[in-house]
Amino acid sequence: MTQHLLVKFMLTIYALLFSITVTAAEPITEAQYSQGKEKSVVCMTCHGVDGISAIDTYPNLQGQKQAYFVAALRAYKLRQRNDGLAILMHSQADVLSDQDMLDIAYYFHHVKSEPIKNDH
Ligand code: HEC
Repeated sequence: MTQHLLVKFMLTIYALLFSITVTAAEPITEAQYSQGKEKSVVCMTCHGVDGISAIDTYPNLQGQKQAYFVAALRAYKLRQRNDGLAILMHSQADVLSDQDMLDIAYYFHHVKSEPIKNDH
């Protein structure tokens, strides 16, 4: 009987531990991901669908930190970033609301590339 209770107790502990680890991981919110993806269509022409740019002077956005991403967009909007190719980003940032920036940052932070097919 005591053994039975012990097993029950252990199972409860495992269940608790498991639920803690599951909630601790950052869940990808499908809604925000697809919102961000929709809003990123124009960005993809320069930065790539998966945030890996095809042009050497255009930065990759895949996996970028979300706070940094939003700060960069705000800096373009406020013309605090002006040098180099920043001029290309001014008109892009101008039309984005704070919510757009968050959604787009969320998309590029989480997007993954398709594995390269090696069929030759
Ligand atoms: C016409 C091409 C073009 C388009 C379209 C474009 N970008 Fe850019 N983006 C650039 C270039 C070039 C830079 C580098 C600018 C610089 O030197 O500051 C850049 C920089 C950035 C950066 C800063 C990256 C870093 O590491 O500091 C972010 C974030 C960014 N773009 C997001 C976006 C988003 C979001 C969109 C769509 C709303 C977008 N871009 C559309 C060309 C483009």
